Amino acid sequence: MTYNAADDRYESLEYRRAGNSGLDLPAFSFGLWQKFGTDYPYETQREIALHAFDLGITHFDNADRYGPPHRAAQQFFGRVLKHDLAPYRDELILSTKAGNPIGSSPYLKGGSRKSLLTSLEHSLRDLGTDHVDIFYSHSPDLTTPLEETVGALASAVEQGKALYVGVSNYAPERAHEAAVLLRQAGVPLLIHQPRYSVFDRRPELNGLLKLAAEDGFGLIVYSPLAQGLLTNKYLDGIPAGARAQNSAFLSPDVIDDTYRQRAAALNRIAEQRGQSLAQLALQWVLRQPQVTSALIGASSPWQLDHNVKALDFPPLTEEELALIDEHGVHGTGPKL
Ligand SMILES: NC(=O)c1ccc[n+]([C@@H]2O[C@H](COP(=O)([O-])OP(=O)(O)OC[C@H]3O[C@@H](n4cnc5c(N)ncnc54)[C@H](OP(=O)(O)O)[C@@H]3O)[C@@H](O)[C@H]2O)c1
Repeated sequence: MTYNAADDRYESLEYRRAGNSGLDLPAFSFGLWQKFGTDYPYETQREIALHAFDLGITHFDNADRYGPPHRAAQQFFGRVLKHDLAPYRDELILSTKAGNPIGSSPYLKGGSRKSLLTSLEHSLRDLGTDHVDIFYSHSPDLTTPLEETVGALASAVEQGKALYVGVSNYAPERAHEAAVLLRQAGVPLLIHQPRYSVFDRRPELNGLLKLAAEDGFGLIVYSPLAQGLLTNKYLDGIPAGARAQNSAFLSPDVIDDTYRQRAAALNRIAEQRGQSLAQLALQWVLRQPQVTSALIGASSPWQLDHNVKALDFPPLTEEELALIDEHGVHGTGPKL
């Protein structure tokens, strides 16, 4: 069926400026890490991706690694781009990442120039586009000089294969060094992609939030729902089809009594505010001015509809934030 994007797609979502750049991103961005490989039906995946765009989610986050198998999520998106979203390419912010291992070859992992630029070529082919909007170093590679990694990111922009660059999972000191080197190269660091949620407070504890403001880059925070743990879905066990049942990245072991007590207490706070735990958790990360976007996943259009309403509620009060601190214990859920 021919796809026509919703006419009202820019009417409800908030767009926020990424650091000191000129680029606005939607408050909610959509990631294709899980459930966009070849093990789920294409039509369901397509429906979710197009629904995201209809809601005003212009930013789709991908990586060479996403699947399974590796590269499948980008090939999926390439198919949707070709058949449905091509007329809207100018309205999309597509990102990809390179550097995490995607094969046994020494050139399919790490932060070398060879690895990053080879991966980018593959990603452009898989996505069926001549450039991505944001190209990331997926993780720090402490065995490669940062100058080389950063140089490869800058080359991607100089070659017209990326408009902006980002880093992900970098500790604050290394992110700062990367920001300095990139500024010198004339390609400012647009954004950093760390994990941040009520259950993972690292960006608060290690100073990344503060650094982002000082260095002028944005933050797009991944797994803000702790992969679903910060929703009400696991309060009474593990429902069929949930990620904790079928993903290598969320072990059912983390759904223990301690988790359940904390999640139930957070759920009560959310209920008192007339919202769901998912909405509370998303509002919580987006309360930070340095957070440009919450990078969410979804396994149904309903989840997207529900989650994007998170900013329709009144801001969290100091009292509510203190209560969330009490139950939102850093380190709950998957190992940090
Ligand atoms: N840079 C990195 O190293 C890195 C690492 C991880 C992720 N990421 C990026 O961040 C993106 C998001 O990560 P994530 O998927 O872990 O984010 P998340 O938003 O924390 O978790 C999404 C999952 O939570 C469940 N969910 C969402 N809304 C729900 C609701 N209202 N009620 C009940 N369950 C709900 C769904 O799982 P079910 O399948 O159980 O329904 C959904 O797939 C990824 O796709 C990727 O782009 C980046």
